[in-house]
Amino acid sequence: MSITVEVALAADQPATEHLLDLTFGLSRSAKTSYRLREGNTAIEGLSLVTCETGFGLTGAISFWPLKIGEAGIDALLLGPLAVHPDRQNIGIGRALMRTGLDKAKALGHRLVILVGDAPYYARVGFKKVPHGQIELPGPVDPERLLYLELAEGALALAKGLVLPPYRFAELSERDAKKWAPVFRKNATLTY
Ligand SMILES: CC(C)(COP(=O)(O)OP(=O)(O)OC[C@H]1O[C@@H](n2cnc3c(N)ncnc32)[C@H](O)[C@@H]1OP(=O)(O)O)[C@@H](O)C(=O)NCCC(=O)NCCS
Repeated sequence: MSITVEVALAADQPATEHLLDLTFGLSRSAKTSYRLREGNTAIEGLSLVTCETGFGLTGAISFWPLKIGEAGIDALLLGPLAVHPDRQNIGIGRALMRTGLDKAKALGHRLVILVGDAPYYARVGFKKVPHGQIELPGPVDPERLLYLELAEGALALAKGLVLPPYRFAELSERDAKKWAPVFRKNATLTY
């Protein structure tokens, strides 16, 4: 069967949300991955869908920008990835991942992380992040925290807390202010 992967349109949003509710359940936004998507914007051109005539939207994937650690190493969060229960196990998930990862590499992205089932994602090369190297802003089973290098060696510098870019910028600015010298007018020295 040939599967056509297309860039998602704004008009696909309601059907995508419905698909995510169907596959992950209504409590899906409680997951730690969602803390990385709140206030963040999916990478343009990397939100992909599959559609079938007479069926509608059958699968969806998206990728989100992240900053890792004090160095602010750039990475992508893969997910959510979902395939309609009636269309699973025919290669749609793999086609969405492969297309998304190829496009991400072509755009110059170097590192992708995700929280998910290791046996599934290992099929496209994801591995477990060494325990303790990367921390997410919420609880995560370390066995499910996975990475894929799109550029060799990209994981090595990625150490510490993972944040959406806007949050990283806020914290960096706050820290810069904290350490900036305070100039007092008419200061007198008292011994
Ligand atoms: C996980 C999911 C995205 C896979 O998509 P899909 O289109 O059905 O998968 P594919 O057709 O590309 O691959 C199917 C293969 O992966 C295997 N597989 C599917 N889900 C798996 C999982 N969670 N763990 C391990 N293997 C899995 C299937 O057994 C099948 O194996 P086979 O090729 O040896 O027969 C889809 O089942 C889904 O949306 N599930 C619910 C949401 C979810 O759990 N998403 C993310 C996983 S953390």
